[in-house]
Amino acid sequence: MDQIRIRGGNPLKGSINIAGAKNAALPLMTVSLLTDEEITLSNLPHLADISTMSHLLSDIGVDIAMDGNVSGGHSGRTFNLKAKDILNTTAQYDLVRKMRASILVLGPLLARCGKARVSLPGGCAIGTRPVDLHLRALEQLGAEIELSEGYIEAEAPKGLSGAHVIFPTVTVGGTENILMAATLAKGKTVIGNAAREPEVSDLAHCLIAMGARIDGVGSDTLTVEGVDRLHGAEHAVLSDRIESATYAVATAITGGTVDLIGAQFDLIESVSDILMRAGVEISKIDSGLRIKRENDSIQGVDVMTEPFPGFPTDMQAQLMALMTIAEGASMITESIFENRFMHVPELCRMGADINVHGASAIVRGVDKISGAQVMATDLRASVSLVLAGLAAQGETIINRVYHLDRGYENLEEKLAACGADISRIRG
Ligand code: EPZ
Repeated sequence: MDQIRIRGGNPLKGSINIAGAKNAALPLMTVSLLTDEEITLSNLPHLADISTMSHLLSDIGVDIAMDGNVSGGHSGRTFNLKAKDILNTTAQYDLVRKMRASILVLGPLLARCGKARVSLPGGCAIGTRPVDLHLRALEQLGAEIELSEGYIEAEAPKGLSGAHVIFPTVTVGGTENILMAATLAKGKTVIGNAAREPEVSDLAHCLIAMGARIDGVGSDTLTVEGVDRLHGAEHAVLSDRIESATYAVATAITGGTVDLIGAQFDLIESVSDILMRAGVEISKIDSGLRIKRENDSIQGVDVMTEPFPGFPTDMQAQLMALMTIAEGASMITESIFENRFMHVPELCRMGADINVHGASAIVRGVDKISGAQVMATDLRASVSLVLAGLAAQGETIINRVYHLDRGYENLEEKLAACGADISRIRG
C-alpha cells in the first residue's frame, strides 16, 4: 500500500488550484438518473470516489463519456452522463460499502422508476451514520420501504406525492435525496430544516437547469413543485470549500503565503473567521484567496462544528492539527459525528498535547511536534496528519493513503509545488 513521506519545516509559498467539490460532484452525478437526456458536468475532481460513483451509475444503466471518451476510469474533468434506460434498480453492497454517498441513488431511482433496492450503508469510522431520516422522508412522499437482507427495498407503485417534510436534524444527504425525489413527485413538497450546505444549493441549481421548480435555495426551507419530466442540462461543479480550507491551514501551519486559485471566500467564511482569530491573514485576490502567516505565532481558538454556515465538521481535524502548535489552549467540540477524533491519538504520537472529554478535545499548544509513522481511518483525519507532518521536525510517514485519494486530488503534487518536502512511496 502507498505511503506518503514528509520532511517537515518548509514554509509553503506559491499557488494551488482548487478542484471541484467532491461532495457536490457526487450528488450531481446522480441527477443523471432523473432524466433520459444528457447531463454534462464540468469541473469534476479526479478522485477515487468519483470513479466509485461512475461504476455504480454505469451498473444502473448510465452511459458515461469522459471528455468525449467512453472508457473505464476517469481521464477528464467533464463527464457526459445519459441514463436513456434504467437497466437495474439495485445498488449493490460492494459499492455502497465502499462509499456511503451511494445512498444518493435511492431518491432519484424511486422518483424515476418507482422502485429501488439499495444496500444499507453500515457504520463507518466517524460514526454510526444511519439513513433513517432519508427513509422516513421518502415514506412521507409515499414510498413503501422495507429492510430485508441488508438492503433497503423501496417502492412507490403509485408514484411519489408531495408532502411537508421536516427533518429533526440537519442532514446533507437526506436533504439531497428528498430534493431529487421531490422534483418528479406529484404536487408540492416543502422540506423544512433543510441543510444549507453550498453543495445542496449547487445540486438545486443543476436541478433547476434541468427544469425542476425549486424555491428557497440556500435557505433552510426548500419548496419543490413537482414536474412531469426533467431534461438535460450543463452544470459546472462548485469549488471545493474543504480543499480550500485545508490548504489555508497548510499555509498557516507552515508559516508561508499561498494563493488558492478558484477558492471562494463566501464558502469558507466560518473557517476564515477562526483562522483570522488564530492570526492568519486572508485576503481576496482576483483569482481566489491569499493566505498568509509569516512571523506571528498561531493563537489558540475555541471552535464547535455545526451545520453550514457554521464551522464544518470536515475541517475539525485539520484545525486541530493547527492548534497543536498554537500559543495557549483551544477547545474543539464536535457536534455532528460521535466518533470523529481518530486523529487525536496519532497527533499525540507526534508530540501534541490533547485530551478528549466526551465531544470536546482540549488542545494545549506545544513548541514543536515531531515526525512519526502515523495512520488514520478516514479522509479528513488522514489529511490532518499530513498537515501536522508539514510542520513537524523530522520525517513523518502517513499510512493508508487511499483515504486521501478519496478526497484530495494530487495532494502531494500541489503541496510539493509550494515547497513542501513530500513524496509518495508506492507500495
Ligand atoms: C455529508 O455526509 C458529507 N458527505 C460529509 O462529508 C460531511 O461530513 C457531512 O455531510 C456533514 O457535513 C457528502 O456530502 C458525500 P449528514 P452525510 O446526513 O450527508 C446524522 C467528508 O469527509 N443522520 O449531514 O452522510 C448523521 O449520523 C465527509 O467529505 C442521522 O442520524 O451527513 C450525522 O450525525 C464525510 N440519520 C448527522 O446526522 C440520517 O438519516 C449529519 O449527517 C442521516 C443523518
